[in-house]
Amino acid sequence: MKVTVVGAGNVGATCADVIAQKDFVHEVVLLDIKEGTAEGKSLDIWQTAAINLYDTRTVGSTNDYSKTANSDVVVITSGLPRKPGMSRDDLIATNAGIVRSVTENIIKHSPNTIIIVVSNPLDVMTYCAFLTAKIDPSKVFGMAGILDTARYRAFLAEALDTSPKDIQAVLMGGHGDTMVPLPRYTTVAGIPVTELISKEKLDAIVERTKKGGGELVNLMGTSAWYAPGAAAAQMVEAVIKDQKRIFPCCAWLQGEYGLKNIYLGVPVKLGKNGIEEILELKLNDDEMKLLQSSAKSVKEVMNVLDNMQQPAVK
Ligand code: NAI
Ligand code: 2OP
Repeated sequence: MKVTVVGAGNVGATCADVIAQKDFVHEVVLLDIKEGTAEGKSLDIWQTAAINLYDTRTVGSTNDYSKTANSDVVVITSGLPRKPGMSRDDLIATNAGIVRSVTENIIKHSPNTIIIVVSNPLDVMTYCAFLTAKIDPSKVFGMAGILDTARYRAFLAEALDTSPKDIQAVLMGGHGDTMVPLPRYTTVAGIPVTELISKEKLDAIVERTKKGGGELVNLMGTSAWYAPGAAAAQMVEAVIKDQKRIFPCCAWLQGEYGLKNIYLGVPVKLGKNGIEEILELKLNDDEMKLLQSSAKSVKEVMNVLDNMQQPAVK
């Protein structure tokens, strides 16, 4: 099995490193436009194999897509990261140009690949890759929900002084401040979280989760990479190992939750065919309102993209 990660920056290199360490593919190709960066980082990662005892080969490429040929999964992380004061949506024009050209090259060399998008603004860049790739939407989806739920679970674990392993949670909507964490579907070892924490504390955690990306941008002057890289690697693993895992992912909706022709975060089943099922939860009125409002803001940015390029999918 072969995986390509496009963009050898913070997120891409971390994702390639996590995939290699987990040792579930034969080869990881890391590709970047910056001369030598991908070769250097992949050589560095490969030199950890003898220390950490794994076999996955990591190969670097400066914009030579022939090295990515016949990839089973491609992760797209190329693009500018968010800087302080910048919203994810500010990134749209630049990153859409990058995601479009990367996707064209990827599909040329790996027509049967599954594409996982990470570049921001996430929901809209996933839509951009879908429009460009012209393949089934079950094979083009985005990473955000695993990261956002991981942040939510980390904050809850701290507040409850418990292991994050025992916290199960679902989070829906766009990857932005309108995301919809769902306390009603959050449990700690099977116990509803609402029985373990006060409403005030839970509300504060939900708010912190929504702004979780911005909190890190403000601390570091650029966006996060350890958890984003690990989250994308977890999606790759679910596909490559055909694990049928249930994760919140950015998926193309065709009527689910009353939403059509939109990429949005929802719980899905991930396996060798990509998104094998979209799970429809029975949301209550308040949850549905939040989801609809998140969808509205994602749709607005999708419209910006539609007005910039090819006609929208109707
Ligand atoms: P970075 O700046 O460290 O890396 C981006 C890399 O993309 C650079 O090495 C750059 O040379 C490369 N690149 C630019 N144009 C390219 C092209 N045409 N072909 C190949 N490579 C190209 O940025 P970082 O921190 O790795 O973030 C990457 C993207 O992921 C950003 O858009 C960021 O906002 C997004 N992100 C998304 C998250 C999510 O939850 N979906 C979480 C964290 C970051
Ligand atoms: C994050 O959530 C900025 O999307 C990036 O860390």
